[in-house]
Amino acid sequence: MNHLKRHNPSQLPAWKALQDQVGRINENTLTGMFKADPDRVNRFTADLPELHLDYSKNLIDAEVMQSLLDLAVQTELGHGIEQLFSGAMINETEERAVYHMALRAPKDAVMEVDGENVVPAVHSVLEKMETFVHSLDSDWKGFSGKKITDIVNIGIGGSDLGPVMVVEALKPYQVSGRRVHFVSNIDGSHISQTLAELDQETTLFIIASKTFTTIETMTNAHTARKWFREKGSESDVRKHFVAVSTNIEAVEKFGIDSRNAFEFWDWVGGRYSLSSAIGLSIMVAVGPRHFRDLLSGMHAIDQHFQTSEFENNLPVILALLGIWYTNFLGAQTEAVLPYDQNLQFLATYLQQASMESNGKMVDRSGKRVHYDTGAILWGGAGTNSQHSFFQLLHQGTHLIPCDFIIAANPTHTLGHHHDLLVANALAQCEALMQGKPEKQVRDELAAMPPEKIEQLTPFKVFSGNRPSTMIMISKLTPFNLGRLIALYEHKIFVQGYIWNIFSFDQFGVELGKQLAKAIEPEIKGDVKPEKHDASTNNLLLKFKSWKRY
Ligand code: F6P
Repeated sequence: MNHLKRHNPSQLPAWKALQDQVGRINENTLTGMFKADPDRVNRFTADLPELHLDYSKNLIDAEVMQSLLDLAVQTELGHGIEQLFSGAMINETEERAVYHMALRAPKDAVMEVDGENVVPAVHSVLEKMETFVHSLDSDWKGFSGKKITDIVNIGIGGSDLGPVMVVEALKPYQVSGRRVHFVSNIDGSHISQTLAELDQETTLFIIASKTFTTIETMTNAHTARKWFREKGSESDVRKHFVAVSTNIEAVEKFGIDSRNAFEFWDWVGGRYSLSSAIGLSIMVAVGPRHFRDLLSGMHAIDQHFQTSEFENNLPVILALLGIWYTNFLGAQTEAVLPYDQNLQFLATYLQQASMESNGKMVDRSGKRVHYDTGAILWGGAGTNSQHSFFQLLHQGTHLIPCDFIIAANPTHTLGHHHDLLVANALAQCEALMQGKPEKQVRDELAAMPPEKIEQLTPFKVFSGNRPSTMIMISKLTPFNLGRLIALYEHKIFVQGYIWNIFSFDQFGVELGKQLAKAIEPEIKGDVKPEKHDASTNNLLLKFKSWKRY
């Protein structure tokens, strides 16, 4: 049964209308469009309490925006959203619901998967997490009777990136003196360097894996266990290892007490799981109250997304802008640029959320798509990024729409730093849009000899007309962070829906894993590499001739 409708967006009237409008937009400029439309800022801004979205510096006009909204209507996006929120199996290739919204629903909500209200189970796990975190502050002791001072989350992908990003983002809200560490890479450097600073007596590991089979996580978990057993006994393992997984059987097999296993469900996608028990490391770092605030922020956006008209619906607006750039203006990438050091891992987190979801070339009917899907997402924190890749944003040849994120208030007391930070964010958007025309460059160089002016002018011109979106929040609080995350989650859903692809599977990560399994014995033993292509065979032989461990 098809839970999500099938369509070819490129055959819809709105798609064709958008194609017809590219010429007009390309002939125009952002500054020209601002001059021509005194109401542009009002037209292209949207507000939620303490969250302001300004998308007026995008390469759109009222007609383009209308056609984008028509595209949403013509693809029956409303039906898609209804299906998402109904708990239908919209992850059709894996026969699962996509129901991360249930993870942040209030206790009295009713959200059903397969006829069963899942909200009570969600809250029961949340309470179990809270009890665990409180016990770390009170009676939970390591095997030698000492308190736990260090928590190591071992996970990868969705079982790592969200918690890493949020723990960093909410550093100013950390409540306990405990340190939280993250180990994800199978590269032994990651775990060995982390463990080198730790003491078995005071360290607790959270093994976070939806499947509890992921090779990186299980290899790191076994290494951690071995390290622990250098001092602790087998029966002490349960005091130092807890798990978060949908696979409780495998957790028990590993030797973790099922009472210390925090459950989640197959209707939570890995990259959408930070609001599940996968967020245990977040709760450990910031405490239950801030974790609940994070969930409330996500829930607020879930409701906004579910109930708002498309023209005022922030995730829908962000998604449509992305489609405009990807499918009509030829942009290949998009940048996320938070002007907030604590959001330094936001782009890395969103890379998985967006690119693992929408990096697909087959539509929901199993046919090759003939239009581009998921943009390449990248970015970094301002102002550091200004001193690395902003050169290309301002004077490079690529069209790169940028999301800027700023908070009106800092989480520290150095107000003059924050003034400068915000000034830079606003200035960058202005510079991208306005550029610097030749005349201005020549005027600025006027004191130089004429031949020098001729030589330098072309290099100092900024073409401008480069688009950006600004998301301003009142302050980076757990609630506002939750809202930001859910905004992007739903943006990704809308894009995948309109592109007529399945956003919630990830078969593309499987092939490399399969091949690695075949190569591993050849790396380890005397097996002669011969089954591969000539290049891989040669690399294997070279590697083995150099291998000294
Ligand atoms: O990269 C593939 C993937 O399946 C991700 O979708 C997931 O977040 C990650 O691996 C980790 O999976 P698990 O939580 O099952 O260890």
